[in-house]
Amino acid sequence: MEYNQNTSQLVADRVSQIPKSAIHEMTRLSKEIDDVAFLSWARPTSGTPAHINKAAVKAIEEGKTGGYSEPEGFYELREEIAKKLKEFNHIEASPNEIIVTVGAIEGLTAAVMAVINPGDEVIFPVPGYSSHIRQVQLAGGKPVCVPTIEEKGFSLDMERLEDAVTDKTKAIMFSDPNNPTGSVYSKEALEKVAQIASKNNLIVITDEAYEYFTFDGQKHHSIASFPGLKERVISAFTFTKTYAMTGWRIGYVHASPELIPQIKKAHIPFAICAPVVSQYAALEALRGPQKCVDDFRRHYLTTRNLMCERLDRMTHIFEYQKPKGSYLMFPKIKLEKGRDSLTLAKQLLKEAHVSTTPGIAFRGEGHLRLSFCVPEKTINKAFDRMKDYFNKSN
Ligand SMILES: Cc1ncc(COP(=O)(O)O)c(C=O)c1O
Repeated sequence: MEYNQNTSQLVADRVSQIPKSAIHEMTRLSKEIDDVAFLSWARPTSGTPAHINKAAVKAIEEGKTGGYSEPEGFYELREEIAKKLKEFNHIEASPNEIIVTVGAIEGLTAAVMAVINPGDEVIFPVPGYSSHIRQVQLAGGKPVCVPTIEEKGFSLDMERLEDAVTDKTKAIMFSDPNNPTGSVYSKEALEKVAQIASKNNLIVITDEAYEYFTFDGQKHHSIASFPGLKERVISAFTFTKTYAMTGWRIGYVHASPELIPQIKKAHIPFAICAPVVSQYAALEALRGPQKCVDDFRRHYLTTRNLMCERLDRMTHIFEYQKPKGSYLMFPKIKLEKGRDSLTLAKQLLKEAHVSTTPGIAFRGEGHLRLSFCVPEKTINKAFDRMKDYFNKSN
């Protein structure tokens, strides 16, 4: 029997339309190179705090982690999350408005699946986090990208946002603090987003992964806390960034009691439930000492300042907006060759052994994304190398 070798049509359009990820391409290429100075990963290089690890080990040793939990997560954990949402985000939440998810990312994918119909338009301020755009594409929705105002710290362009609304628009989706730009939206800007959403009957989907990391007195505001808006907001949060728990794959979504059961219908076929051992770790993260979060924030402030200082010495190459939040920044490349950010990022990797993420991955061509969630010595090493590279190549 001869089997048919033509398999090109086996793949669904919903994934074949999605381009290969430039981020993962850079990760793959970095593995081929020795002694790389990584500024490309948006994951904290510090380990998960010891008390969180211990709580997980204890749960394992007590035999509590071998089964599934309720799909929406332990009640006890959702109670703690509700408390945190009230205290930190000023969202009046109850445990039945929360689903514990496999990181923020699965929560957002489930949420998008629950509210976006094929053909629905979703507005994205860009540069923005590429996974959000992919989530909408997987649901058959149409991403509509609206540029932010770079010279004003990548702030939202309200006029353009409003102009982008059509009778097909279903939602506005963004991360705040922002990946990749490090911008933090002001309360006034979010109030305008709220007005646009309310006037046009839209859903607002927020990714607040970096909620705890803001600098220079800038405050993070959760749009779901605005009076009368909770019904049309889905907000995603995570333990990944706050507690350096990337690999535990645990986060949560908050939405209205009407939307949560619908999001749960999408969450179950993706995950059944979030990893149980990670739910125990998350419980300890919320109940235990919060000094670790302050320590991370202080460290990111130091590394942000160092990165800006190093960029200030390269004004002929880079122009940047100082990030007010997250642990990422998005300098513009002033050179001709920087227009193709993927080529430049590959050259930097190959010739200078510095790993960056090309702006094209975030709909921000002509930029590089640099992460400062790394030790100071990594930043210094990377910038020493970039300085030599640009001196030689100019
Ligand atoms: C804006 C944003 N959202 C979500 C994630 C992923 O979060 P999680 O690990 O909770 O899925 C990242 C990771 O880089 C991110 O930058």
